[in-house]
Amino acid sequence: MSEPGEKRFETLTVHAGHEPDAESGAVVPAIQPSATFQQDAVGSPRGGFEYARTGNPTRNALESAIAELEGGTHGVAFASGMAATQALFYRLGPGDRLLLGDDVYGGTWRLADKVMARYGVLVDVVDLRDLDVVASAMTAETKMVWLESPTNPMLKVVDISTVARLAATAGALTVVDNTFATPYLQRPLELGADVALHSATKYLGGHSDAVTGMVATRSDEVAERLHFHQNAAGAVPSPFDCWLILRGMRTLAVRMDRACANAALIAEWLTHRPEVSAVHYPGLPDHPQRELVERQMRQPGGMLSFQLRAGETEARRVAGATKLFTLAESLGAVESLIELPAVMTHASVAGSPLAVPHDLVRLSVGIEAAEDLVADLEQALTGR
Ligand SMILES: Cc1ncc(COP(=O)(O)O)c(C=O)c1O
Repeated sequence: MSEPGEKRFETLTVHAGHEPDAESGAVVPAIQPSATFQQDAVGSPRGGFEYARTGNPTRNALESAIAELEGGTHGVAFASGMAATQALFYRLGPGDRLLLGDDVYGGTWRLADKVMARYGVLVDVVDLRDLDVVASAMTAETKMVWLESPTNPMLKVVDISTVARLAATAGALTVVDNTFATPYLQRPLELGADVALHSATKYLGGHSDAVTGMVATRSDEVAERLHFHQNAAGAVPSPFDCWLILRGMRTLAVRMDRACANAALIAEWLTHRPEVSAVHYPGLPDHPQRELVERQMRQPGGMLSFQLRAGETEARRVAGATKLFTLAESLGAVESLIELPAVMTHASVAGSPLAVPHDLVRLSVGIEAAEDLVADLEQALTGR
């Protein structure tokens, strides 16, 4: 994976999107809460801003930062990851087909299946790891391929450059939900995808204190349409939330390093537990796409899931028995979280081609001491 621009990624994360203020010397960007901006004459906004839904300085800083980190030329911020997803789905019209990976965030499936389908968008679901299946699923009507890698919650890994190439040949746009990996571990635009999307609520913000979505692209056309929808539909983040995400992004690299190290250790430890029937983590030597993980990602990430030999009831008990891992939805923050996808984050995929195992427990591994996290899981697994 190449470094974006001339600086190394760790340096970019600290400085992306802002510089010390020219007047005050403040090293931290200001939060600009103004909803509207003075015009010198009709149609001549003094500082280039008119109304804060259309654009404001704090959001601009955040949008520049994500563009820089993803190696794109444009960044567009939204009120949530789902608002960003919807803005991209707005590209699809009646009769268009969306090719969706068979393991994605439950809310993405819900929006495609329950909302977009009502507007005549047809959704095809395939295992995007199977490139023959991907090639044969592309039709003249396929306008968008939507993938996660690693996927939520099964941690499948998809060959982004090959899927993007197949999509481009068919005239379809490739969108990679890069929430799990972050641009520190994987840069989809460099691999040929058209769009990298984030629930910035997760690793980019990193502290579970702001809900925001972001998109990065190198396409002027995609960015122009997204900015149009951002303004037209108005699902924008507040300047304060933009500032929080920008602050969180400055420590992305160090947080990810620690979360990845902890997750690798826990995943390996879980493989030796008699209570556990399967561990899903892209860093394990027997992960089915191990070679692809090494080619496509800097490190395998801080997310993992595992299945309980004793089944669903035991999975529920374990998820409720941890003391350090908090039982909660969401992921990607400094604190470790545990959840049951089938009834929590992925409840909306029940009965669909994306259904997830009921004995599956998902961990978002935080940056606490690994020994404490292992001890917590041990007491939860053994019930002692
Ligand atoms: C992979 C992934 N994409 C998108 C989303 C949606 O983001 P948000 O909750 O910020 O709307 C989530 C939320 O959990 C997610 O896990």
